[in-house]
Amino acid sequence: MRILSGIRPSGELHIGNYLGAMKNWVELQEEQECVFFVADLQALTTPYSPQNLQKNIFETVIAYLAAGISPEKSIIFVQSHVKEHSELFWLLSTICPVGELSRMTQYKEKSRQFKRNINAGLLNYPVLQAADILLYKPDLIPVGKDQLQHLELTRSIAKKFNQKFGKVFVEPKPYSPKTGARIMSLQNPKKKMSKSDDQQGYIALFEEPDSIRKKVMAAVTDTGKEIKYNLSKKPGVSNMLTIYSLFANKSIEEIEKKFQNKNYSEFKKSLAELIIGSLEDLRRKRKELLTREVYIRDILNKGAKRAEIIAQSTMDEVRKKMGLV
Ligand code: TRP
Repeated sequence: MRILSGIRPSGELHIGNYLGAMKNWVELQEEQECVFFVADLQALTTPYSPQNLQKNIFETVIAYLAAGISPEKSIIFVQSHVKEHSELFWLLSTICPVGELSRMTQYKEKSRQFKRNINAGLLNYPVLQAADILLYKPDLIPVGKDQLQHLELTRSIAKKFNQKFGKVFVEPKPYSPKTGARIMSLQNPKKKMSKSDDQQGYIALFEEPDSIRKKVMAAVTDTGKEIKYNLSKKPGVSNMLTIYSLFANKSIEEIEKKFQNKNYSEFKKSLAELIIGSLEDLRRKRKELLTREVYIRDILNKGAKRAEIIAQSTMDEVRKKMGLV
């Protein structure tokens, strides 16, 4: 099976990105053919700084590598390096109804958030995402819940294309890992962990140990004193149990048992040390990778070449079917 996914390079990644996406990718690459890219073209749809874009792309690639995504096992590349993404985007946009795009939840949210910059790219970007995906004919797409609607649109574009022009595309399915890896803010466990949160609510992938300790100890807990998973009554503790269970690779029940007669503070101390220990290796690898720019460029060049071979072969089929050759 072929698996494909990407992350937009919009700055610092956090443990939510890691537990919800990259950690699963690392496991998937052992069994499947994987394609992972950095969605730099998507980063242009919301306000960004051109001076920082290359640095953000680099940091995202370094995060992939530090997390254990292997350039030997997986194809790793930057979206804009493979021109076929933009080309297929245009062709697919001619069969995608505008109405469907304006109904996308993320579009509505972002256009509310960036009222003064509702550019056409923001509206059209789900078509680019469909191109990102369909070019490689993947079977499964590991994405968070917020991307399911875009994946549904991708499937409907694939179906429409195949019906209209003849079969080229595979309709990919969403892949969700066994554990519902939706990591919430430490300060507001009803909200997804995000960079735009206040600094206290999220833990960056490469955060220093002291700062991790402070944030975990300050995390919001719930009334009562039991370490029990209960999303509606104990969202704070449940979120921390999820984080614990994913980093420890143990079930929630096992963790509950381990902390049966312990209090919140003991649980939090143990969680902080677990996070620090789990991220230590990533922090060390990042420091090393930061000094190896040539090596990283080489990985990205090779990745783009491997991606191009697949992308160009799909584009040949698409051009023929659409009457462009
Ligand atoms: N839109 C995704 C996000 O914001 C990133 C993305 C772009 C993506 N293209 C993709 C994810 C293709 C999966 C497949 O998180």
